[in-house]
Amino acid sequence: MGGPVTLAHPLIWRKGNVDMDEPQSLCQADRHPVILCGTDITKSFGGLRALDGIDFQLHEKEILGLIGPNGAGKTTLFNLIAGVYKPDRGIICFRDEPVTGLRPDQICKKGIARTFQITKPFLGMSVLENAVVGSYFGHHKRKGLKQCIEHAEGTLFLVGLEDKRNFLASQLTLGERKRLELARALSADPTVLLLDEVVAGLNPTEALDMVELIKKIRKEGVTILMIEHVMKAVMGASDRIIVLRHGQKIADASPEAIAVDKDVIEAYLGSGTYAHAQPS
Ligand SMILES: Nc1ncnc2c1ncn2[C@@H]1O[C@H](COP(=O)(O)OP(=O)(O)OP(=O)(O)O)[C@@H](O)[C@H]1O
Ligand SMILES: [Mg+2]
Repeated sequence: MGGPVTLAHPLIWRKGNVDMDEPQSLCQADRHPVILCGTDITKSFGGLRALDGIDFQLHEKEILGLIGPNGAGKTTLFNLIAGVYKPDRGIICFRDEPVTGLRPDQICKKGIARTFQITKPFLGMSVLENAVVGSYFGHHKRKGLKQCIEHAEGTLFLVGLEDKRNFLASQLTLGERKRLELARALSADPTVLLLDEVVAGLNPTEALDMVELIKKIRKEGVTILMIEHVMKAVMGASDRIIVLRHGQKIADASPEAIAVDKDVIEAYLGSGTYAHAQPS
């Protein structure tokens, strides 16, 4: 097993430049082409409608924030995109191809990776082994174990965990576990990364570092959809923000517009939080 590889190695993703001359996707893009979109997404659990006719579009290389009160349906939307659940109604397209109904492993191999709200590392495995799981099982074409290990080492280097590669995952702090979640997802070499509260629970310095890391990942060509309750982080990182409440979309706008949106302030931000929520 070699030492940490250079940043350039794992991060020469297949994406890179967005070719604006390519045909427009099925979903109309207003900036970069739409890479992932959902139309009329609806999901109920028994009598509870967790998502109710949601439309969304994610543009290539965008960082799109997804916010809303507890129980608004944010994680449910991730679970639908990632194939954990099937929507009752509606369709999700990735690169103009419907992915609704595919299994999570099929969706991951198509290029959509996720992190979990509650970190779920394999506690008895090393940090490196955890990251290798992502590259070995999640990547669409990676073959040998050696390549998988090299790629996983690269992602650990990116998230700043290279020094802990031989630690057990159970020995990591919460902040480090969140970084490991990220490394494991990145090891699948995703085009789209779904981040479910990777900043929540971190101290202010760790939170700032995480936002910088998210921006760095986007710079490498990865498109990001992030759920976050830490307003400073989501306002600072996002190009655009969608707000859910009771399973419905109540706003879809720039962070600046969201911060002053009366419905959003009433439903979620509150007047006290509002001042804190200004984009940094
Ligand atoms: N598997 C499930 N079975 C039953 N109800 C569920 C299930 N998953 C989610 N729900 C319910 O659906 C609603 C939306 O949940 P979801 O986890 O998507 O909310 P969220 O916006 O992610 O909230 P939070 O900010 O607290 O994480 C909640 O009322 C939740 O209890
Ligand atoms: Mg959630």
